[in-house]
Amino acid sequence: MKDVYIYCNWKIYLDDEQSESLFRSILADLQSVNHYEKGPNINLTIFPATSSLRSLSEINSNSNFANKKLKISIGCQNIHYEKHGAFTGETSIMSIQPYCTSVLVGHSERRNVFGEKNADLNKKTSLIINNDLEPIICIGEPENVSKNDAEAYLREQILSSIANIDISNQVIFAYEPIGSIGTGFATETLDVNSKAEFIKDTLIQNFPDIDLRLIKILYGGSVNSENITDYLSLSNIDGVLIGSSSVVLEKFQMIIDKIISKSHI
Ligand code: 13P
Repeated sequence: MKDVYIYCNWKIYLDDEQSESLFRSILADLQSVNHYEKGPNINLTIFPATSSLRSLSEINSNSNFANKKLKISIGCQNIHYEKHGAFTGETSIMSIQPYCTSVLVGHSERRNVFGEKNADLNKKTSLIINNDLEPIICIGEPENVSKNDAEAYLREQILSSIANIDISNQVIFAYEPIGSIGTGFATETLDVNSKAEFIKDTLIQNFPDIDLRLIKILYGGSVNSENITDYLSLSNIDGVLIGSSSVVLEKFQMIIDKIISKSHI
């Protein structure tokens, strides 16, 4: 049975008080499933709005949560690519590093709404790795493109994100096709599995020394309790990046229940 990565992107759906309250409820809920036997080991990482990072990190460390099969961490949704300097309104890696283990890079909302470019994302990935945090590099093709165009688009995103970067710790790629984000139209599992295979093939062809055991691939886009185990069962997928279904306690609970009751993932 593989370890699974359940990464939850809370975007800015909640204010600080709501984030703290939801996180406390999630911890309490997970305490009650402390002794599940059948399901896979779960790496759960919550990516709250940046203003809630510190408080969630403190709640997490003070929770005394102990479970051999379930690890809970906090992640950051975005950082600036420079360590410090005159960058009004940005968040530096130094300010978030004490409170998290992972950072999202180039979520499609960052690329499309805020115009982030591949070259800047490469700098972010490098900074994150050099500061001993785990990057989650988000990639995904636009809607309605042909298979060839989708692959060319993904290839460019993959290669540019880690060009000239020494990968000797875990790096995660989150494959999030844009048409599936926030739409309720999750991508077909067969397509997701073949795109994940394409990501691995691209890495091997272009970085022959890369250790694929250090690369994990998540799927994101309208994941919910109904479809989650279909994605987690795919041979090339290690986990999921969940948006809106992870900010409603009942939906989150149903997702966890589905995972822990699955004996062969
Ligand atoms: P939804 O799960 O709401 O489609 O969002 C996906 C996403 O953007 C995760 O990063």
